[in-house]
Amino acid sequence: MHNTKYKQEEQDIQLESFAGPQLLMDQLKILLDAYEAAESDGTFYSPEAIRQRVPLSIQDDPLPHDELLDVLKAVVLRTPKTANRLFFNQLFGGKEDLAVVADMMVARMNNSNYTYKVAGPHVLIEHELLRKACEVIGFSAGEGTFCPGGSLGNLVAMILARNACDPGIRDHGLAGKTYVAYTSVEGHYSIKKNAGILGVGRHNVREIGVNERGEMLVDEFNRQVQQDLAAGHIPFFVNLTAGTTVLGAFDDVVEFSAVAKAHNIWLHVDGSYGASVLLSKERAALLSGVAMADSVCWNPHKMMGVPLTCSMLLSKRKGLLAENFSEVSDYLFQDDTDDLNPGTRSLQCGRRNDAFKLWALWKQLGNKGFEQRLEKQFLLRDSLVSMINSDPDFDLIIEPASLNVCFEFSGVASDKICSAMDKQGLGKVGHGAFMGRNFIRMVVVNADLTAQDLENFLDSIKATALSLQKKAQ
Ligand SMILES: Cc1ncc(COP(=O)(O)O)c(C=O)c1O
Repeated sequence: MHNTKYKQEEQDIQLESFAGPQLLMDQLKILLDAYEAAESDGTFYSPEAIRQRVPLSIQDDPLPHDELLDVLKAVVLRTPKTANRLFFNQLFGGKEDLAVVADMMVARMNNSNYTYKVAGPHVLIEHELLRKACEVIGFSAGEGTFCPGGSLGNLVAMILARNACDPGIRDHGLAGKTYVAYTSVEGHYSIKKNAGILGVGRHNVREIGVNERGEMLVDEFNRQVQQDLAAGHIPFFVNLTAGTTVLGAFDDVVEFSAVAKAHNIWLHVDGSYGASVLLSKERAALLSGVAMADSVCWNPHKMMGVPLTCSMLLSKRKGLLAENFSEVSDYLFQDDTDDLNPGTRSLQCGRRNDAFKLWALWKQLGNKGFEQRLEKQFLLRDSLVSMINSDPDFDLIIEPASLNVCFEFSGVASDKICSAMDKQGLGKVGHGAFMGRNFIRMVVVNADLTAQDLENFLDSIKATALSLQKKAQ
């Protein structure tokens, strides 16, 4: 026994009250089943109400098992549901059972995906998924890495892009030069945040305007590049978004590629949300020309129903990741070739296994299953759009390119509707703004929903809006 730091009596108490892993698992399974069964429960809990019910502070003594279960239950039952019929708030929602179980298996196996020695088959699984993703994108000699989310996938892309300008940067820094990145006003905030992290500077991110569909304007990008060059700056990175966060718009890769290539600017596609459409023959055209990009970020935790987090950064040229992230580490990389040690290509050291759940699900569904799943999501979106179009109280803001449906209820502020819905436990939906209009953004990403669920939710939105209207009179 190594745990000499515990007093003997405490050990005895623990042994008596400890339920054992199997019983604990069974009890927690019952709890999670109860949580998930409450499909129509959207109850809102304020921070005060949660503090009152859940003893949050860590106490000195071990908690007896029954009390522990009670506390865990109190937390779980107050946790917002992101997979029920009342959740339209985010670009993720719903989940695939097998991927959930695979993720639980990952926690039990508790490997770290940095070396073959420690992760074994999971390294090969990661290889296969990254190879497959490169194949889907059209990167014939590509490579990739799993990242903890799209924000950091975008960061990896920006590091590759910045260091591609000058191989000395990794060792010596920016040497007083001004590097400039480009993204659209509708692009994800991680681009600016990453510019701050990278020493490029947030103010050196140019936010380019968009057309009426929310797609970045290539002429404005071109003009801005010329201005920056004339000022002696170094344009190094352009971020195109495949599925913008609010509107779901897809920037045109082919158009931008010409300008980016002419100026040797790294072309990145932030497909955190939308790259999954590549799995559908019918929808893949939204990302035409994606193989022209230098890098692509793709989050299966959004459209593909894989639990958070699951995100890949794919780069067109094999070898760049190691060039930019490899460090000598005798304590860690002791066996096998670098190829089998993905830690040499990663932003991280210890790294959660986010590949297994995606691989297990992809094996289960096959390409065809994912294609059908996507088709169902797009059909649901179409049903919602026709419901909105057939009700004169609702106004569709824009024809959706993706699964985001943006609309308003005439005469009632969208933010107030969303907030009232949440507080009343009617469900979670967010709001956004575009070209001076505020609207509700309903994301139809949960493939388990039905058209009836959408109709019910729309009815709730309408009832809430009418009641707010009445109160205001
Ligand atoms: C277009 C886009 N890029 C990047 C991100 C960030 O991804 P993550 O939340 O995985 O960091 C998001 C998040 O919604 C997004 O919409």
